Amino acid sequence: MIQKKPNEKSTGLLSLPEEYIELDQTLDSAFHILEIASKDRHTLFHTPTLSTFDGKRVSTRTMVLREFDPEKRLIRFHTDFRSIKLEQIKKDSHASVHGYDPSLKIQIRFDGKINLHHKDEVTKGSWALSQEMSKECYFVGGPPGTKIEDPFKYDPSTFNLESNDGFQNFCVLVFQFESMEFLYLKKSGHRRAIHNWTTGKHQASWLIP
Ligand SMILES: Cc1cc2nc3c(=O)[nH]c(=O)nc-3n(C[C@H](O)[C@H](O)[C@H](O)COP(=O)(O)O)c2cc1C
Repeated sequence: MIQKKPNEKSTGLLSLPEEYIELDQTLDSAFHILEIASKDRHTLFHTPTLSTFDGKRVSTRTMVLREFDPEKRLIRFHTDFRSIKLEQIKKDSHASVHGYDPSLKIQIRFDGKINLHHKDEVTKGSWALSQEMSKECYFVGGPPGTKIEDPFKYDPSTFNLESNDGFQNFCVLVFQFESMEFLYLKKSGHRRAIHNWTTGKHQASWLIP
């Protein structure tokens, strides 16, 4: 049986405090969770939800977290340039990212803006680093979300992997967050904290949970 250290909760590579006494601990834990999640597909934060807004409606979907850069406060996602979310992001770049892991009892929410990359140096770099299996879905013969009669006609066996279409459809979303909210659930008292960078300077505060 794995023994937990008295003040630490260990989940795989994660080592997190059992108690949150200082605000800095909430920032360190959130960033640590996201850094691990970008590399470990078995963690729940590897597939957070990304919400976008087109001026009228909010849309939420699961996305694979491809990269987390704590210094620049960036999260990188990959998507199809023809997808519905692209139209929304072009209208309004504001977005939020959310994740919750019940084994950690931690919810993290980010607010920020998305920068789109298509057929540029950023997409070339991300495409080159992507695994062949991940690239495949960008060869599907039509815009994702289009109504179709027969789903079998859009299976991977129909893709023309020799064409250049995959890269043409490939798009990188770089989400930069302006604030991060951390919530830790604990019977003896939940801990909720907000971290903000909107003024260019890091500001943090506890919140009533
Ligand atoms: C586990 C999981 C991972 C996913 N990862 C991605 C992803 O990295 N990029 C993406 O565009 N869609 C991903 N999807 C599909 C999206 O959730 C969504 O259905 C799709 O992008 C269409 O969204 P839209 O119509 O709002 O553009 C994933 C879905 C699941 C269930």
